[in-house]
Amino acid sequence: MPSSSSLNLVSAAGATTGPDWWRQAAVYQIYPRSFSDSNGDGIGDLKGITAKVPYLQALGIDAVWLSPFYPSALADGGYDVDDYRNVDPKLGTLADFDEMTAALHAAGIKLIADIVPNHSSNRHEWFKEALAAPKGSAARARYIFRDGLGKDGEVPPSDWDSKFGGPAWERIIEADGTPGQWYMHIFAKEQPDFNWDNPEVREDFLTTLKFWSDRGVDGFRIDVAHALVKDLSEPLPSKAELPVEGTGADGLADGSHPFWDRDDVHGIYAEWRKLFNQYTPPRTAVAEAWVHASRRARYASPEGLGQAFNFDLLQADFDADAFRSIITKNLAEAEATGASSTWVFSNHDVVRHATRYGLPAGSGRHGQDWLRQGGSASAVDTELGLARARAASLLMFALPGSAYLYQGEELGLQEVGCIADSARQDPAFFRNPGVDIGRDGCRVPLPWTSEGTSFGFGDGGAHLPQPEWFAGYAVDAQENVEDSTLEFYREALLYRRHLQSAEQLKWVRADASVLHFSRPNGWQSVTNFGSGLVELPAGTVILSSGPLEGGKLPRNTTAWIV
Ligand code: NOJ
Ligand code: CA
Repeated sequence: MPSSSSLNLVSAAGATTGPDWWRQAAVYQIYPRSFSDSNGDGIGDLKGITAKVPYLQALGIDAVWLSPFYPSALADGGYDVDDYRNVDPKLGTLADFDEMTAALHAAGIKLIADIVPNHSSNRHEWFKEALAAPKGSAARARYIFRDGLGKDGEVPPSDWDSKFGGPAWERIIEADGTPGQWYMHIFAKEQPDFNWDNPEVREDFLTTLKFWSDRGVDGFRIDVAHALVKDLSEPLPSKAELPVEGTGADGLADGSHPFWDRDDVHGIYAEWRKLFNQYTPPRTAVAEAWVHASRRARYASPEGLGQAFNFDLLQADFDADAFRSIITKNLAEAEATGASSTWVFSNHDVVRHATRYGLPAGSGRHGQDWLRQGGSASAVDTELGLARARAASLLMFALPGSAYLYQGEELGLQEVGCIADSARQDPAFFRNPGVDIGRDGCRVPLPWTSEGTSFGFGDGGAHLPQPEWFAGYAVDAQENVEDSTLEFYREALLYRRHLQSAEQLKWVRADASVLHFSRPNGWQSVTNFGSGLVELPAGTVILSSGPLEGGKLPRNTTAWIV
């Protein structure tokens, strides 16, 4: 691959400091329980992250987004929070958190914490109080309780389904031992939804955001940001009467659903923004909002959260037309609202993109059919998947806006499709048998060494089984190995930091085979989605996602030219 010595990369350090650091940041998602285990109990922890700060620094990221690290029974991988202002004792202490934050900051890396405001866990103090308190009490009014229908209230208040399968209502046993009211849970039954009409709930989340902001957290990722406000006026519509929802670009465009993407949710984020802006630099936020593309802008507005995840690329096939229209549309949207675009291919909820791109056509949306058929590694063309993943990631790194990476993608790690039922953890697997295989396959602890217990994740094994083939993806098998995916990511992120310029892009060529664009400073990215070789423009090729052939760009490859 061409040498990088022609540019002074050292001077790039600190390019993303200042209040706008987030606009074009490379943000690396850590799923803490699967990153690095410092004490050999099989669970990744905060000290494990602190120990890997030099690795993160060498990778060249600007920020870490830390998935939930709060006390939790892990009914949903930590997205069931017992206490919003503490650290799970299995992961460490608040002092460990402070130590980790200080180490990240000393390395020039910002920290984004995951906030889960739609629901708590059923072990949260407030929920326990609600169960102990009588119907109609202030304690119940923090959640969504309703009487059941039928003669004895034995029928749920509506026939709605939860996202993980099964009903969206769970009946409680009242303090006197009799079956009682029902509470709503969009996700697992261990995740009761808050009542955001209640000022106490609003106040408490402001306290939480202040708590972490005061501790040095630089920004927040807002879980299911589009669900908080609900219209649950009686009579509740039946499932058949609910507006048909989609996800992402095919979602509803009018805010008419009783619990997804209602206009009033933005009142909450306007309040949060006032709090964020009291800090220097202002705290940032990114919404996880699976809404119609036209509705994303409000979450991302400067008066709101500032950014919203755009999952369009993650949902698209490796296809030039699809990529081009997604990029064009999202940049136009961002420009119109003053937000910066976000790009993402992998996270803790989806099949890793190195695997998605290597699945045969007809493997179902995002690889779900492949998982249902057993997730066999031999069904994946890993070479093709990795080539496309590297090409797609390099294209993403050249786009204006911020790029979100998921731990392990810098290793080219594949999804673990095949996990014994008895080892699975995701509630989606258990609540929706045979239909939803769940998300454990992208949450398997990272391989740090090609040998040794749990591939260097920790001394005591890993909480999800790691396959033998993880050895080949280990950090130590890739470090200082020319053209390894890890070295490729490091180089790409370093160049990216150095080359980052105004948030604009001009298409030079955009057809069914090639996407070629340039940034205002002359930085060009060319991706070959077709089958033949593509001539590259004049200039110096500083990096390519795979080897060139006779100076030309082969299929499934991206090159950067300056
Ligand atoms: C979105 C999170 O990314 C996912 O992991 C979680 O299960 C749901 N929100 C519920 O909190
Ligand atoms: Ca541990």
